Amino acid sequence: MKVLTVGASGTIGKAVVRELEADGVEVVKASRNNSSVKVDITSIESIKAMFKKVGKIDALVATLGSAHFGSVEEMTPEQNQIAVNSKLLGQINLVLLGLSFIRDKGSITLTTGVLMDDPLVGAASAAMANGGVRAFVKSAAIEMPRGIRINSVSPTVLEESIDKYGSLFAGFEPVKAKSVALAFKKSIYGAQTGQSYNVY
Ligand SMILES: NC(=O)c1ccc[n+]([C@@H]2O[C@H](COP(=O)([O-])OP(=O)(O)OC[C@H]3O[C@@H](n4cnc5c(N)ncnc54)[C@H](OP(=O)(O)O)[C@@H]3O)[C@@H](O)[C@H]2O)c1
Repeated sequence: MKVLTVGASGTIGKAVVRELEADGVEVVKASRNNSSVKVDITSIESIKAMFKKVGKIDALVATLGSAHFGSVEEMTPEQNQIAVNSKLLGQINLVLLGLSFIRDKGSITLTTGVLMDDPLVGAASAAMANGGVRAFVKSAAIEMPRGIRINSVSPTVLEESIDKYGSLFAGFEPVKAKSVALAFKKSIYGAQTGQSYNVY
């Protein structure tokens, strides 16, 4: 099995890669820096070049997506656009441009996050992108060709990321990156489609 992981050098990406490689899966790692395949998911041309270089795959995994954190009252359209371009359209464009490279009965797994279900002050832009990705996945699942499945994983804050987010997630029970990686495995190896696997 050949799996393309976009965002492979990140906290979640590394955990997913570790789990898959332990199973003997061939993992192609992609990100802007420090990965064997370079890609910027905010650029359509860059995504096209990545798929041309990588070729046919059995599974596409996206473990990335940026968003601006700040109050709605002060947020500019440009700041909101970060999540639109990266987390929302970036991941959806991976699907649109990558579908023809995915083998019959393959799978796609995208990343959302708890903030779409459990609001925090300053997280509306991230929540918007998460909800958009989840809705796209649910709807796209009923028209995936050739037995291809599509799901998303919605993690809560990771133990490994607590220092990065500081007190933002006060009161949230953090989960291990490994637990999130297992949800990706469920999507890749399982039979379900159109699901949002909530790791919380
Ligand atoms: N960590 C958490 O606690 C947590 C909880 C819930 C949801 N999430 C969501 O899960 C996703 C991943 O989180 P993470 O903590 O693993 O992130 P991370 O550690 O910052 O890693 C992000 C990965 O994506 C790559 N990347 C970023 N922007 C890119 C772009 N435009 N094009 C291509 N690659 C890009 C990064 O490498 P380069 O910078 O080299 O490109 C890196 O490999 C995010 O959407 C985040 O909101 C995370």
